[in-house]
Amino acid sequence: MHTYTPRIFSIPSLDGISEKSIVDHIGLYEGYVKNFNTISQKLSEYAREDSEKHAHALSELIRRRSFEFDGMRLHELYFEQFEGGASQLTDTDSLAETLKREYQGYFEQYFKSIALMRGPGWALLYYDPVAKELLAGFAGEQHQGHFATLPIILALDVWEHAFLLDHGAQGKKAYVDAFFKNLNWGVIEKRFSTVVNI
Ligand SMILES: [Fe+2]
Repeated sequence: MHTYTPRIFSIPSLDGISEKSIVDHIGLYEGYVKNFNTISQKLSEYAREDSEKHAHALSELIRRRSFEFDGMRLHELYFEQFEGGASQLTDTDSLAETLKREYQGYFEQYFKSIALMRGPGWALLYYDPVAKELLAGFAGEQHQGHFATLPIILALDVWEHAFLLDHGAQGKKAYVDAFFKNLNWGVIEKRFSTVVNI
């Protein structure tokens, strides 16, 4: 059984997202890693015993494990997008060309509208290597509504904990604007270039 270790992120000072908010948020991320490990440990015990005896506990843990895993992975995608500091795409980036072709200059507005949907979750941009196009979506909490098997190239956390401290309960829009202001598009571009040739 693999035991995960929380990743360490090198996040510069951000505009509109405080250091305290980031530190608290990373604490939540570490909780997902810890819970995933704990649940996996318990499940590996059940797997070596009479699992029927533990049927109820097992079904609860199996459901919770993917919730914890998705929380872990999505937060890793999220925090690494701030590493290295804000940077823009250039017109020669293949991602910039794809976004322009598919969204005619409206990508950021469209993605922000998804982020402002009600309820806790994640606005996500995937790449579909079969259709060879981007797919934007919203994952409720962090595990509902994913496009199975598709790689995620942009991840925006819109749970209240991401913005409550800095912007208040009605501050989701200000937070989403701040998120885009601080994005290192170089990270997103790198993800895209890795999956675009699959
Ligand atoms: Fe979060």
